[in-house]
Amino acid sequence: MSSTVITGIGELSTNDPARAEHGGLLGLVHDAAVVVEGSRVAWVGRATEAPAADVQVDAGGRAVIPGFVDSHSHLVFAGDRSAEFEARMTGQPYTAGGIRTTVAKTRAATDEQLTSHVARLVTEMRAQGTTSVEIKSGYGLSVHDEARSLAVARQFTEDTTFLGAHVVPADSTPEDYVALVTGPMLAAAAPHARWIDVFCEDGAFDVDQARTILAAGSDSGLRGRLHANQLTYGGGVRLACELGLVAVDHCTFLADQDVAALADSGTIATLLPGVEFSTRQPYPDARRLLEAGVRVALASDCNPGSCFTSSMALCIALAVREMRMSPAEALHAATAMGAAALDRDDVGVLAPGKVADLVLLDAPSYVHLAYRPGVPLVSGVWQAGRPVVGLAG
Ligand code: NIG
Ligand code: FE
Repeated sequence: MSSTVITGIGELSTNDPARAEHGGLLGLVHDAAVVVEGSRVAWVGRATEAPAADVQVDAGGRAVIPGFVDSHSHLVFAGDRSAEFEARMTGQPYTAGGIRTTVAKTRAATDEQLTSHVARLVTEMRAQGTTSVEIKSGYGLSVHDEARSLAVARQFTEDTTFLGAHVVPADSTPEDYVALVTGPMLAAAAPHARWIDVFCEDGAFDVDQARTILAAGSDSGLRGRLHANQLTYGGGVRLACELGLVAVDHCTFLADQDVAALADSGTIATLLPGVEFSTRQPYPDARRLLEAGVRVALASDCNPGSCFTSSMALCIALAVREMRMSPAEALHAATAMGAAALDRDDVGVLAPGKVADLVLLDAPSYVHLAYRPGVPLVSGVWQAGRPVVGLAG
């Protein structure tokens, strides 16, 4: 197995709790080196103490961070909704109904078209430092189209999520559609999915329907996650906490009892600030959550309707500027906490034995991710030990 030592790292963010005493939340190491063997990290420490390896790469004093773990995306779709975005920016509100526009286009697309579209977006993500991604279905809304959406997603990640319960399609009733989602659609989707999700919101599915759908998913071996409290206050976040789900996503409109339930349950609140940016909604109150002891992750929610960005760096910049997270909290939320939100302990941390997903920034510090918003700072990416982008490749 060939080994590589990346040396000359000015500032290394490890997220390793064992380094918290000197390195803080991010487990920082200065003047660092990392040794990669095959697909895994073999050694992390001071460059002066690094063991020899087959190949040596000099980071030239730049910062290195763990690859971003984007725990929430909807990449399997066809069509364009930029006109809807433009209407929003001139005063129209965002509603769940726009999903149906994408459903019609997605159903009309071939498997090959959907696959090449996802490939393009995953490549776009990787170029910006995202090395792990969760991908949902939810623009098929028929047995055939949900199953094939998940089969397409599976070509790119193990973290696929069945989101048949995205919205009730125009040609169905809520009762009939919940029966379909929990019956034949779930049976067709389950072999291709790890997770099941429900859009629990006015205009989509209520708390009782979400409970029914998540229970059916669990009976089929799928683990639950939830879109909740995105557009309105409601019981979705409390349902996620009551069920002990690993993560509940959006969390924009939260009552005090929702915050308390998140803190008590340990369910991760995944915040998606690109959505508030792109829908001109108020941002979630990250500070309130963190101060209450809630575990917070950041993800892109990349989708054609509410937020068509694939940039985790943008999410970090928004979280810092608009949601009062510190740059360290935001990077941790976009890496280690994203991994936790997918119940993964192999990614999001740079320590011996972990997957070697590393991002080289053309900057002296991770702080530049928020300090230099909109600037493409990623100059190299190693994914599972393989150089895949830029200077790394
Ligand atoms: O996470 N909230 C529900 N689903 C997506 C948006 C889907 C769409 O508008 O196409 C989201 O924001
Ligand atoms: Fe979403």
